[in-house]
Amino acid sequence: MYYKFFWDGDYMASFFVVGGNKINGEISIGGAKNAVLPILAACALVDGESIIKNVPNISDVLVAIDILRSLGFKVLHEKNTVVVSGKITNNTISKEYSSKMRSSITFLGAILGRTGEATCYFPGGCKLGERPIELHKKGFSKMGIEVIENDDKLICIGKPEAANIMLNFPSVGATQNILLASVYAKGITIITNAAKEPEIIDMANFLNICGAKIEGAGTETIIIKGVNKLEGGEYTVMPDRIIAGTYLAAAAITNGKIVLNNICVKDMQPITLQFKKMGVDIVTSKNMLIVNAGKSLTSVNVKTGTHPNFPTDMQAQIMAVLTQAKGTSQIEENIFEARDKHVTELVKMGANITSVLKGRHFFVTGPTKLKSTLVCAEDLRGGAALVIAALVAEGEMIVKGTEYIERGYEDIVRDLQLIGANIYKKED
Ligand code: EPZ
Repeated sequence: MYYKFFWDGDYMASFFVVGGNKINGEISIGGAKNAVLPILAACALVDGESIIKNVPNISDVLVAIDILRSLGFKVLHEKNTVVVSGKITNNTISKEYSSKMRSSITFLGAILGRTGEATCYFPGGCKLGERPIELHKKGFSKMGIEVIENDDKLICIGKPEAANIMLNFPSVGATQNILLASVYAKGITIITNAAKEPEIIDMANFLNICGAKIEGAGTETIIIKGVNKLEGGEYTVMPDRIIAGTYLAAAAITNGKIVLNNICVKDMQPITLQFKKMGVDIVTSKNMLIVNAGKSLTSVNVKTGTHPNFPTDMQAQIMAVLTQAKGTSQIEENIFEARDKHVTELVKMGANITSVLKGRHFFVTGPTKLKSTLVCAEDLRGGAALVIAALVAEGEMIVKGTEYIERGYEDIVRDLQLIGANIYKKED
């Protein structure tokens, strides 16, 4: 098991960062975690061989591969390519795998679509608040599926039937799960108030290449015409807009320069818009972002929201940068009720951050001198924010909890060293 080092509360390694270097260099962005995970779940619907390229080597992908193997599929994993083939022989996702990541739940839709029966346990993932799953359950019930919940186990019984499903909230995971369950449902399924994130489009593109009939992915209304079979297909995962945004933030906080290759300019717009407002020069070309953050930053007001608003997955990172912006910025976190574990750690470093509404609304005043101290990551993006802040802290910073960060970043040490940061990892 690749992720044997990771369990709640015990840290196994730390990042050491010596602040002061400007970020300066060029880097190519890899495949998107939040696209590849639902795409790997979608492979469970496919009869033939699925060849998925540009797969990031992150621990969540290794969990998804283990889940596919536990369902009976043959999975070859070679560098950044995953090949899935074979048949489903088991329709239960174990408690161990379910607890490892939130997107374990999106396998339910695929298993249901294929077999008409699926069991999993309540999903794990970053602790950003309660993270209920009632939208997933309601969507399945509308499709005629019986959903039985006892303790932390979720048993779903019934072949999904085509239905009109209106989501009370454009949940990314619920949109993906219902879409997966509907692919083989005879007739027309319509999802309204669907999530519009680019990662939804990527999964739909993969399924359509395999023979599905999905229209409207990326808009609030997705229409799925049931088909009888999905052949295999080859697909290249979209670039990770959040990793690109994280490295953009690293350049911004150090007044550096960076060229980000292999990105999707359109997907990055909600992120680049905010950094431009802060005074960062950003020039875009086909699939490249040229960032010149040479001058001082000004405060901005950021509101996270569903796409195409500013993504919640960049909230912690932009908060770290705003500690160095002149003036007082406001940050409103409108997606998760407790995405604030990075705040106490940034304050420990000397940041001037006040929470006007616990977990939801923050004032950040800068610029403030950040000092090196021991900080602990408690979730993926909060951990990345602490590394970004460490780039401008005086002295050597220790960031514990690398396991959280490695769930979503293939090798943040390699990447940041490549663009000039003084960072290394040490096993505890
Ligand atoms: C996906 O999580 C991403 N994870 C998250 O990225 C991302 O922050 C989130 O979408 C929003 O963009 C993956 O794709 C693996 P949601 P998901 O369902 O699907 C509430 C990262 O750092 N909700 O859109 O869980 C929920 O509690 C991770 O890469 C319900 O109330 O997001 C939250 O407040 C973190 N009931 C909000 O909706 C439900 O049934 C957004 O959740 C489902 C969700």
